[in-house]
Amino acid sequence: MNNIIYLDAAASSLKPVSVIDAEMNFLRNSYSNAGRGVCARAGKVDEAVDSARKKVADFIGASSPKQIVFTSGTTDGMNRIAKIIDDPVCGKSLKSKTIMVSDLDHHSARLPFEVLSDSIGCKIILCPMDSSYNLSSSDIPRADVFVITAMSNVLGVAQDVASLISAAREKNPDVITVVDAAQYVVHEKIDVQKWDCDFLCFSAHKIGADTGLGVMYIKEPNRWIAPDKFGGGMVSRITGSAAIGNYSIQWEPVPAKFEAGTLPVTQIIGLPAAIDYIEKHRPNLELIKYLYDRLSKNENIQIITERDSSMFTFVPKNMHVLDFGVMAGTMGLCLRVGNMCASWIHNLLGLKGSVRISVGPWNSMTDIQKAAYIIEGIIK
Ligand SMILES: Cc1ncc(COP(=O)(O)O)c(C=O)c1O
Repeated sequence: MNNIIYLDAAASSLKPVSVIDAEMNFLRNSYSNAGRGVCARAGKVDEAVDSARKKVADFIGASSPKQIVFTSGTTDGMNRIAKIIDDPVCGKSLKSKTIMVSDLDHHSARLPFEVLSDSIGCKIILCPMDSSYNLSSSDIPRADVFVITAMSNVLGVAQDVASLISAAREKNPDVITVVDAAQYVVHEKIDVQKWDCDFLCFSAHKIGADTGLGVMYIKEPNRWIAPDKFGGGMVSRITGSAAIGNYSIQWEPVPAKFEAGTLPVTQIIGLPAAIDYIEKHRPNLELIKYLYDRLSKNENIQIITERDSSMFTFVPKNMHVLDFGVMAGTMGLCLRVGNMCASWIHNLLGLKGSVRISVGPWNSMTDIQKAAYIIEGIIK
């Protein structure tokens, strides 16, 4: 890998050969749009998209492929959910309702709901959290919407999503639960039926598939009447016209209703290979534990993750994190520095930023030892 040590899996995964091959083969030999053509070639692409959708449904334990909507990523999904669930025309306005978020949230998970709250007038409340950064189900407040970061991209703590949702439903059976699984999806098997969430999002690029593709799971897709995006592929019939009268528009059934415009077909073709790969190659937490044990002895390092976390995050005590990141980069060590689009947890910890190391299936103990050596050298 050009002599670099890539320890930034949580930002984006390197791509397995099987994903690259699937996309290359499609682009070279069988490219066509999906949901648009009637020739045999186009039909094969439609079948491949259907099959990828079914694969995703099985991957996250969904009961039907109709619950799987392709998006452009977690950010897109979370923004869309904040629009879909506030539907005043269909009598489902969130005005004056309570939205529960947490300080673990990524900007992509929380900002759409903060902005929604500002625009229509909702109350934002925080889910309580214990000293190990587990969201607490025992003293959870009543909420109408509950946004849950299943795994923080800074601390790597995996939440007990099923218990949190069950506790939230005890307080309000109608609470709408929205899970950001962008990090969790890499680390452990998801079971949306066990979790009983209403929505869940993840990005394909973090599990080894391509960029520009994400998944939005909707538990009851027919409950949400109004689509949030409009265009080709999501309309089944338009009758009449404004000029001749009798004008009516009928949406396609789900999931097409929520998939306006051309799908990222090539990325979808690569997705099943990425799912096969990640199911066999979850991150090796022993590598993180080794780094934790080795660097916790270093007096110039303040570690902010727990030992059994799925990533290793720290602050160099004697230099700025950005300077640290640049120096590490010049020595071939790729890692993430800054606030990682998670300002709230950094604010809570009183930090301007941190350094994160996250491992992928391609990393070995040799990578980690070299990384430790480079880190120790930079901060000594
Ligand atoms: C926890 C979490 N949520 C959301 C996102 C946003 O994902 P994307 O940029 O792929 O939309 C990320 C990306 O790092 C993340 O780690």
